[in-house]
Amino acid sequence: MSQRFDDPRATWDARFAAPGLLFGEQPNAFLQREAHRLAPHSRVLSVADGEGRNALYLAAAGHAVQAFDISPVALAKARDWAARRGLQVDWREASVDDWAWAAEAFDAVVAVFVQFADPAMRARLFAGIWRTLKPGGLLLAQGYTPRQLEYRTGGPGRADHLYTPELLRGLLPQAQWLLLREHDDVLAEGSAHAGRSALLDAVARKPE
Ligand SMILES: C[S@@+](CC[C@H](N)C(=O)[O-])C[C@H]1O[C@@H](n2cnc3c(N)ncnc32)[C@H](O)[C@@H]1O
Repeated sequence: MSQRFDDPRATWDARFAAPGLLFGEQPNAFLQREAHRLAPHSRVLSVADGEGRNALYLAAAGHAVQAFDISPVALAKARDWAARRGLQVDWREASVDDWAWAAEAFDAVVAVFVQFADPAMRARLFAGIWRTLKPGGLLLAQGYTPRQLEYRTGGPGRADHLYTPELLRGLLPQAQWLLLREHDDVLAEGSAHAGRSALLDAVARKPE
């Protein structure tokens, strides 16, 4: 889907104001595949967490989760969902550029479909992620690749927001890449990410 990026908070609030969950109730499938890499009781940051599906999945697995998103409408849904499930997540309303990115604060950072970021914001975002990871910490990231422009089954519809392995290697030159895999898969993540999709799965480790 294409998005307006001039007023991201209003744009995302309007999208999340529709009844139901835009990205569905299930946690992201890549996160479910790769979460085994996290040590028990990890301190995890979920970036641009949306309606909470990924933060709640990690909290239910016993991790201590902090998460932020620009959309108060999404966060209200997330908090309500957490209360109904009896789970705790420390959600904050913030944009990527407001977030303090405390140094060496997290064992892991999750960044699932954060492709609202244009190249300049993306550079700031990945620098912040790297800073906030502890030595030995993990980044788990999934995004669309440029072939997604043909599928049109989700994502920003802008080539310069999409991921390639080379792009991620360039953003995190010091990372040890435990996984960097392009693949097609059929997503069923609510109404927003549905159908055959061109994906990049990435797990990066910050050296000790
Ligand atoms: C494609 S959704 C993904 C949500 C979530 N990661 C998931 O997988 O369900 C992108 C999210 O980014 C948030 N967002 C957009 N621009 C942002 C910004 N500048 N800072 C923080 N969050 C932002 C939106 O509100 C939305 O929740």
